[in-house]
Amino acid sequence: MKAAASFFLGLVALSVQQALAQEQAPLPASCGSFPTQGQYPKNPKLPDPFLKADGTRVKSREEWACKRDEIRQQFQRLELGVKPPKPTVTASLSGNTISISCSEGGKSISFSVTIRAPSGTAQAPYPAVIGLGGGSIPYPSGVAVISYNNQDMAVDNPHGRGKFYDLYGSTHTAGGLMAWAWGVSRIIDALELLGAAKTKIDVGRLGVTGCSRNGKGALVAGAFDDRIGVVVPQEAGSGGPGCWRIVNDMKKNGTKVEDSTQIVQGDGWFTPSFVRTADDVSVLPFDHHMLMGLVAPRALLVVENSGIDYLGPPSTFGCTAAAKEIYKALGAADRIAISQASHGSSHCQLPASQSGDVSAVFARAFFNQSVDTGFMKTDGKFSFSLEQWAPWSLSALP
Ligand SMILES: *[C@@H]1O[C@H](CO)[C@@H](O)[C@H](O)[C@H]1NC(C)=O
Ligand SMILES: *[C@@H]1O[C@H](CO)[C@@H](O)[C@H](O)[C@H]1NC(C)=O
Repeated sequence: MKAAASFFLGLVALSVQQALAQEQAPLPASCGSFPTQGQYPKNPKLPDPFLKADGTRVKSREEWACKRDEIRQQFQRLELGVKPPKPTVTASLSGNTISISCSEGGKSISFSVTIRAPSGTAQAPYPAVIGLGGGSIPYPSGVAVISYNNQDMAVDNPHGRGKFYDLYGSTHTAGGLMAWAWGVSRIIDALELLGAAKTKIDVGRLGVTGCSRNGKGALVAGAFDDRIGVVVPQEAGSGGPGCWRIVNDMKKNGTKVEDSTQIVQGDGWFTPSFVRTADDVSVLPFDHHMLMGLVAPRALLVVENSGIDYLGPPSTFGCTAAAKEIYKALGAADRIAISQASHGSSHCQLPASQSGDVSAVFARAFFNQSVDTGFMKTDGKFSFSLEQWAPWSLSALP
């Protein structure tokens, strides 16, 4: 029994390791291996992003590379499910449609995305933003848009339905968000395969966005694929740039907000076992400030609506403030920003007052304009104490 169990655990560890071999720079040999199973001590505060599973703290950029790997493994095991490694990918371009085929273990699936080239005088190859569900931010001029129908890859509900699961099986651990993120990586594979001469897309300048559930997916895509330079989750709330611990506390205090126990009731966005953890998120060795920290030092803009309690405005603001500590330690505090403004209950309709914040982040990341991209803007009538939630400090990493 014991041997069988550890054999099984070995397989789990291997699949996570395989997943991590993709889409990331090779890790320093000194990383060693991390415990991929086991319990963590309960922690009602946002976990220290620099505390490693072995009890020591990150003191250098090399150690942070290892810690990122550990965080990615923990997220896959406990919340999001495993991101499978790159399968065999082929791609073709016809007009403005890229058809992408993925095969693995004798099975294959195909899906397609459409490219909208920028209008006007922009010069190819263009930077491009992949929009889950098309995205709903105002796209800056000079930028191509790649529309990705992520619901085709994984439906919201039930877990296990969609092309991702046709390829990997309906019982695969990946929740919808990770299945969508896997699809984003395959789109980038296709762009790389076809090349800029054909696609007119510069794979060195890619962004990802989406709103609401698709914003949660955009953040996961950015956290798990280092080829994406700009990550813009819009009104994604809990499960996106919101921290579970803060949002659950808000709920306890009486705010009508989507907390972790509610979010797992309907949609299959997370790995199925997260249903059990959602009742007591204090056992998680991470929270979503660390999901955002995985994007560092690449550009991250959190776009939120302070007019919808359900999104947990103090949670998304506070969680982003905690993530900024990671960016600061990496010397990139000016690469993470939040734009949070009330536009009532109109969800996913960015008001003109926030569009300048969006264009600034793309102007810097895609066109190297020197504009402020480290702002922390909110019109929310709440106070957030970083000290209360983040009882740690991160020193600059040499
Ligand atoms: C919930 O209420 C307590 C007690 O007033 C307060 O300390 C805490 O900050 C509140 N939580 C949030 C997320 O606002
Ligand atoms: C970006 O702009 C900075 C000045 O703002 C300049 O020093 C740098 O060389 C530019 N980089 C590129 C790749 O053009």
